[in-house]
Amino acid sequence: MAIGEYKPGLEGVPATQSNISYVDGKAGLLEYRGIRIEDLCEHSNFLETSYLLIFGELPKHQELEKFEHSINHRRRIKYRIRDMLKCFPDDAHPMDVIQACVCALGMFYPLRDLRDIEYIYGATIRLIAKIPTIIAAFHMMRQGNDPVPPRDDLSYAANFLYMLNEIEPDPLAAQIFDVCLTLHAEHTVNASTFCALVTASTLNDPYVVLAAAVGTLGGPLHGGANEKVMLMLEEIGSVKNVKSYLEAKISKKEKVPGFGHRIYKVKDPRATILQKLVDQLFEQSGHDPYYDIALELERQAMDVFAEKGIFANVDFYSGLVYKKLNIPVDLFTPVFAIARVPGWLAHWKEQMADNRLFRPTQVYTGLHDVEYTPISDR
Ligand code: SDX
Repeated sequence: MAIGEYKPGLEGVPATQSNISYVDGKAGLLEYRGIRIEDLCEHSNFLETSYLLIFGELPKHQELEKFEHSINHRRRIKYRIRDMLKCFPDDAHPMDVIQACVCALGMFYPLRDLRDIEYIYGATIRLIAKIPTIIAAFHMMRQGNDPVPPRDDLSYAANFLYMLNEIEPDPLAAQIFDVCLTLHAEHTVNASTFCALVTASTLNDPYVVLAAAVGTLGGPLHGGANEKVMLMLEEIGSVKNVKSYLEAKISKKEKVPGFGHRIYKVKDPRATILQKLVDQLFEQSGHDPYYDIALELERQAMDVFAEKGIFANVDFYSGLVYKKLNIPVDLFTPVFAIARVPGWLAHWKEQMADNRLFRPTQVYTGLHDVEYTPISDR
């Protein structure tokens, strides 16, 4: 087998074949199963989009009802998982908590057979249904409160916001949060999805596959960027500080979170949709001065970055929506993880349908035939 050309970070190297989603980085186009993300955000919702991603087509009425009913009635978590949450430090990063709990979840549903349709459906439903409950329960417990039990009568998005502070969100807030989840649900073979594929290819169970993906998503170059963007806006503090802040980042050759993308060489279409959600939310519940800082930062960053094909990505504006929805900054990336579960599951199923163990090769740059030197001679 001839060795292909080494590409750092596998840039431009196809790692799989997939019909789940499509990105045109030059046109700023994103499609889920061929449907434009703009259309899904306008006409669909997160659970219907999750069904589309996982099962390959939009559900009929009864299919969607069964899917939603299964999820709504599987939101509770085992008391042992709740007991586990009590053992974590209050200042543990919630992404670490999710990763640990998703792995633990799998211990209660041991892998029987990856060809068992019921097992796969059960794992799919549980992972979509329970991760929001785990995050919200940890958030309440780290404040010394009892977790808020999920409410089966609330939509997926409304229920998560409700479990965070026991206040039923207003319909616009729930609807906007639902669109945010749809926007983040899938994005071809990004780093965390690639990690899911590799773990899936060893025939591990879906809980371990998702725990691996959660760990990958948390890094600041990937899903962790949305939290970094909010911390950056808070550090800048006012519009008049943007210029000096940006100049300092660039002179230190530091990456500005929320900008740049391996595939998009124009503004991420999701950032544009998120900005519209910010405008809608602020119209109803008041302006946030951090939005002015973000707009000024994007304007000035474009003067420097645009010619290099570096534009705002999905993480640049998402935090402003979450902050207005009273989601704490360190839960921004966990929200990304909640949303990406259907995307990871869709790729897991696709990989299982035609599996081959991922085992790439390398370009060896080391030595050969080196003599062993006893420690006495070193
Ligand atoms: C997500 O892959 C996906 O689809 C991911 C995602 C999804 O939905 O799953 O879209 C979600 O992860 C979005 C990206 C979130 N990350 C960030 O916002 C972190 C900041 N961005 C950068 O770290 C960077 O843009 C990456 C990691 C996102 C992409 O980087 P690449 O493709 O590896 O590009 P690179 O680092 O090689 O940069 C190329 C040039 C370099 O300049 P030179 O050394 O050639 O002079 O562009 C510069 C970089 O320094 N550059 C930046 C920059 N991003 C790239 N310079 C300053 N700030 C930035 N943000």
